[in-house]
Amino acid sequence: MKLWTGRFTKEISGFADAWAASIEVDQALYREDILGSQAHCRMLARAGILTEEDADLILVGLSEILADIEGGKIEFQVETEDIHMSIEHLLTERIGEAGKRLHTARSRNDQVATDIRLWLKEDILSSITLIKGLCKTLVTLAAQHTETVMPGYTHLQHAQPVSFAFHLLAYNQMFTRDAERLWDCYGRTDRLPLGAGALAGTDYDTDRQFLAEELEFAGVCPNAMDAVSDRDFVIEYISAASICMMHLSRFCEELILWSSSEFSFIEMDDAYSTGSSIMPQKKNPDMAELIRGKTGRVYGDLIAILTIMKGLPLAYNKDMQEDKLPLFDASETLKSALTVFNEMIKTMTVKKEAMAAAAKTGFMNATDAADYLVKKGVPFRECHEIVGKLVLHCLGKGVAIEDLPIEELKTFSDKFDEDVYEKLTPLACMNAKQSEGGTSVLRVVEQIEKLKD
Ligand code: ARG
Repeated sequence: MKLWTGRFTKEISGFADAWAASIEVDQALYREDILGSQAHCRMLARAGILTEEDADLILVGLSEILADIEGGKIEFQVETEDIHMSIEHLLTERIGEAGKRLHTARSRNDQVATDIRLWLKEDILSSITLIKGLCKTLVTLAAQHTETVMPGYTHLQHAQPVSFAFHLLAYNQMFTRDAERLWDCYGRTDRLPLGAGALAGTDYDTDRQFLAEELEFAGVCPNAMDAVSDRDFVIEYISAASICMMHLSRFCEELILWSSSEFSFIEMDDAYSTGSSIMPQKKNPDMAELIRGKTGRVYGDLIAILTIMKGLPLAYNKDMQEDKLPLFDASETLKSALTVFNEMIKTMTVKKEAMAAAAKTGFMNATDAADYLVKKGVPFRECHEIVGKLVLHCLGKGVAIEDLPIEELKTFSDKFDEDVYEKLTPLACMNAKQSEGGTSVLRVVEQIEKLKD
């Protein structure tokens, strides 16, 4: 069954053979492998390297194999090592002699690199579609919550009031960049290795431009050795996937925190929660926790591929066969996480009242009190000091700044007047943030309008 036994005097050890085989994993590339082979066959026929008759037999044979694989009629054998040799073997079994001519002017090295790039291009597009879907959900949700005030945090301490919409739109920006990163990666993946041969190019007058057009690549890899040697496009994809997972994970961390009794800012839908086997009262945000957990898995995939490639001499090395598992795993993990996350946030309940109540605590209007004094001519540093003392005083009394009567406020600065109270409500503080990109309703609505375009 082996396609390379010529120079060997004895058979490979059964265990080593099965151990080194990649068919278990790379059969996922069957479609790309067949499409690549069909394009290669058409190119060989045009160049007169294959006869029309042989080419026809090969093309039909490959189409039938494709249909049979999709119909579940084919069980791959570990003896044929990988998807490339499995398909070639099946083809030759079916059409005889002509099948043996297909591998002219090609190596598995340019073949596998082509298959992965074809697969990844499709995969990047579907990853981007999922991210866009999530961004749309965020914008829709944001539009409903431009006036939903909640605490904004730094160091997880109450900082300044913001709208829930504003918080959501921050993530929207992050996910938009994730999609852009993937699209950048697409551009560099969109180069065809096929025609590179094993590493040096081939002896035949092949037409790589024709191949690129047939397989819808924007161009060819200009150097044959590079074409078969690198997997930087895989690394780039998993890096972008890792960053996107990191963003999802941070968001999940917040959602988990916000689901706790202490925060109670949101409640997950029952459809995206689980219970406890012992504690009857429990409703756990498992999906969010799992996305946070699976982020570690994608980072693992990134470290795996980086470490596999590190230290490899040019050109192809068998180590590179290990590229597929992390790639497939990262892609599957990212796409499923995006799908679950999107549904989870679409269905969660936002508890505006709890957010609003929390926004009244923790002296989040202290900066606004200082800015009030700035507007009355006091230098900011002095205002900072005055309000700091004011906060300390309030902490001692267990009250908020706005709970103090005006006479008491005046003991800290005679610039305080009655109009200060209306400036210190959470909504007023939020709406005062009118600078470009700020959290005021005005600016957030502006952001939403731009995003809707
Ligand atoms: N299964 C191999 C891989 O995935 C295909 C390329 C094999 N090339 C070789 N020269 N042994 O990397």
